[in-house]
Amino acid sequence: MITKDLLNKDLVLQLDNEVATLGIQDTLRYLSTRFQGEIVFSTSFGQEDQVITDMIFTSDLPILVFTLDTGRHFEETYKVMNQTLSKYEKKIKVCFPDKEQVEKLMTKKGPYSFYESVENRKECCHIRKVEPLQKVLSLASCWITGLRSGQSGARHQLKQFSYDVANKVIKYNPLIKWSLDEVNEYLKLNHVPHNVLYDRGFLSIGCAPCTRAVAEGENIRSGRWWWESNSTKECGLHQNDQKE
Ligand code: ADX
Ligand code: SF4
Repeated sequence: MITKDLLNKDLVLQLDNEVATLGIQDTLRYLSTRFQGEIVFSTSFGQEDQVITDMIFTSDLPILVFTLDTGRHFEETYKVMNQTLSKYEKKIKVCFPDKEQVEKLMTKKGPYSFYESVENRKECCHIRKVEPLQKVLSLASCWITGLRSGQSGARHQLKQFSYDVANKVIKYNPLIKWSLDEVNEYLKLNHVPHNVLYDRGFLSIGCAPCTRAVAEGENIRSGRWWWESNSTKECGLHQNDQKE
């Protein structure tokens, strides 16, 4: 069994070989024995996450499914969360940000400080998303995400396995090579609940004040932090992958 103290970036290549002939569901099953009790999956209830949730829950895999509740989500996101809880009758761990830090931020800078500068926006993302994630990952060795390389230019280089140096976890991105059509097809075929905002042009969904719909042909992530033209449009959750 692989535990946190045994992790290093060479494992990435080793795991790639070990699962080379397996499909996603079998890989998830395999990893849940390799990282027993130390394997987690983060869901924001996006399209990709719903595919992985379905695979984990229908196979009853011993993987901790968790979500980071920033306190600023869309009503529609809570609805798809609720439908997911009802359909699978499984637990999803909800992680909130540190209350004191949120109180301090809101008291000092008000409820919309993120529109004022990239620095302020990153501060809010750090408090509401990055720190709660770090807390979960401090107890994990393997982290599963719904990242797809087609989501943005910056995500093009991502591999199915990588090593997150800062959080000391092996990251597994099972849908890395899937197209959006494949994702949608899976959801339809398997009757998986999905966020109705997707049907209204919200192709990447984060917090309500920081997400808007995109026009046809526009980049999938261009509706995230849309007012920023000088940033990478990342919140910091996925910034620690070991570079080759
Ligand atoms: S983000 O970094 O811009 O917010 P994105 O929304 O594309 O990320 O989602 C990519 C992956 O990050 C998701 O598949 C999920 O694994 C994880 N993720 C993003 N937001 C959350 C959240 N609020 N809770 C849990 N996981 C999340
Ligand atoms: Fe704050 Fe917006 Fe980041 Fe959500 S997406 S944590 S509201 S800055």
